[in-house]
Amino acid sequence: METLPLKGREIVVGVTGGIAAYKAVEVVRRLKKLGAGVHVVMTREATEFVTELTFREISGQQVAQDMWEKAPQYHVEHIALARLAELVLVVPATANILAKAAAGLADDLLSTTLLATKAQVYYAPAMNTGMWENPATQANLAVLRQRGARIIEPASGALACDATGKGRLPEPVAIAEEILSYFQKGQRLRGRKVLVTAGGTEEPLDPVRFLGNRSTGRMGYALAEAAARAGAEAVLVSGPTALADPVNVRVIRVRTALEMQRAVQAEADADAVIGAAAVADYRPAEVAEQKIKKNDGELTLRLVRNPDILAGLGAEKRRGQVLVGFAAETESIAEYARRKLEKKNLDFIVANDVSQADAGFGVPTNRVQIFYRDGRREQQPLMEKQALAGLILERVADCLADK
Ligand code: C5P
Repeated sequence: METLPLKGREIVVGVTGGIAAYKAVEVVRRLKKLGAGVHVVMTREATEFVTELTFREISGQQVAQDMWEKAPQYHVEHIALARLAELVLVVPATANILAKAAAGLADDLLSTTLLATKAQVYYAPAMNTGMWENPATQANLAVLRQRGARIIEPASGALACDATGKGRLPEPVAIAEEILSYFQKGQRLRGRKVLVTAGGTEEPLDPVRFLGNRSTGRMGYALAEAAARAGAEAVLVSGPTALADPVNVRVIRVRTALEMQRAVQAEADADAVIGAAAVADYRPAEVAEQKIKKNDGELTLRLVRNPDILAGLGAEKRRGQVLVGFAAETESIAEYARRKLEKKNLDFIVANDVSQADAGFGVPTNRVQIFYRDGRREQQPLMEKQALAGLILERVADCLADK
């Protein structure tokens, strides 16, 4: 699978009215190619240099420009854009937009978005050397930097106004690289392979019936996504779920515990394996070829044990490999969790009390305790599964670093 490093990222690109606006087209094209969703906002002056149509075609999205459009594509457009963005890049940034942003002016869609957003803002200034060197511009840059914005320094060279000096927009490829490296910083699992199992398994009884459980797969999907975000090669072996494939994750869909075991063994060279699947402990001893017919008497099913997938990996654990399990319990949590941690040869186990309404199956939140091999126990507060997934991947990265 080709992984697009910026897939799932939403970037707002503000284009202002400088001659370098044409280079912004190439920046947008490159960010799109890296997988990002790119939303272009143009100032009125920018439209004198490049048409809205060009950016619409390249970004594959409507271009926002006017605060007072009759049929805006976003609800309360500047706020929607400000919220949607994980990063705002102003390219090219004229001396004028830098001054407006430093002063907190909000008189058009771009400046309003810049004032409203909490996202990281990057400015790629381009202007005549005199304007760049002017103490007013330098003071504005200092203010913006001090408030957390990042400035992509202009290059020196021939400028449009026949002069040479500092003020040229750096090459679009360099700007796109800078944005890419922002997103990749802090990715502690780059170069690592993380395998996650998720969802419940279905054990067939006959062609139309199966034994299953209430797992929705949410926790495991969140874990696979968090692994991909942390830069890992993420593989998800999933039982049947109603969830869409997470971004940048290779998904292998299976049905039964035996199928899940085969898929996991084929990917067991992973640096870390997280078993979040609710694997059926038993399967029907025989699968009827035809639909089982009812009669008036009782029906007895004979069940046989399924393999314990995680314990199997634990028994053959490679040096340096990290194994993580989940324990869904309704009583004696610490005792059962610790026992499983040992028995399956895990590095840590995430235990939750599934008898609570806000933790475990089918809800977006979880409240867990993490038990480690050295006896440590971490009690976590009630958390969204997404946030918990991020935390678990941090712990995985800690364990990998320790080995
Ligand atoms: O023993 P128990 O089912 O409570 O253990 C739960 C942990 O073991 C989970 O991480 C689960 O994904 C994993 N497991 C497994 N294969 C099984 C049963 C559980 O990998 N057959």
